[in-house]
Amino acid sequence: MVNLKDRFGAFINGQHRCPTGFVGRLVADKMVRQHQPEHGWAISELALQPTDEVLEIGFGGGRAIELMVEQVTQGHIYGIDLSPTMVRSAGRRNAQAVYEGRVILQQGNVSALPFADQQFDKILSIHSLYFWSDIPQAMQDLCRILKPGGKLFLVLATTWINADGEKIVDPLQATLEEQIIPGMLEHGFSIAYLAHGPDNRQFNNVAVVGVR
Ligand SMILES: C[S@@+](CC[C@H](N)C(=O)[O-])C[C@H]1O[C@@H](n2cnc3c(N)ncnc32)[C@H](O)[C@@H]1O
Repeated sequence: MVNLKDRFGAFINGQHRCPTGFVGRLVADKMVRQHQPEHGWAISELALQPTDEVLEIGFGGGRAIELMVEQVTQGHIYGIDLSPTMVRSAGRRNAQAVYEGRVILQQGNVSALPFADQQFDKILSIHSLYFWSDIPQAMQDLCRILKPGGKLFLVLATTWINADGEKIVDPLQATLEEQIIPGMLEHGFSIAYLAHGPDNRQFNNVAVVGVR
């Protein structure tokens, strides 16, 4: 029998994978507040230029897009997210830039990216990679849509610090180091590595970094 706690946990996990409806909007607002260090880290590491063409995958409430709009004043910021609720939420947050055509948001899946070869200078994603069904395939496709010299920066947490201060490393960390990053070098990236980022709450953040 599934107990209430497990059911609630599954519901919240579902709300992070694809936030929907009223609860989805609350989850988006919570993520905007909670993920500030990760948003700041990713954006500073991308060294955005005014003319950059940028893509964010899994933008949630759209706070990172709102910050990037201040720097990308002549290029465009595209966003794709599985959840129609997040497309509406991020659209409201960035209404002026959407109206001006500087931000283009759409519902979609990283497994079917509707973008041209070599379209982007920078691609980022924050706390979304856990939910992707085929990470190696996504890396290949992300390389396809990056310009030569373009940069990929995918933030995620792989380590949890428990109440005793012990670090519990998720097996995903080894998968990234042993399979995903070597695979990126075979599939078109000239540089690929795992960067260590800021801790936030009880999590250690890392980023999968690639340069085409
Ligand atoms: C935990 S939220 C993070 C949101 C935001 N990046 C932030 O840091 O606040 C994960 C986001 O990834 C999106 N997502 C999950 N799977 C996806 C997929 N396969 N393709 C595109 N977006 C996806 C979800 O809809 C959700 O908005």
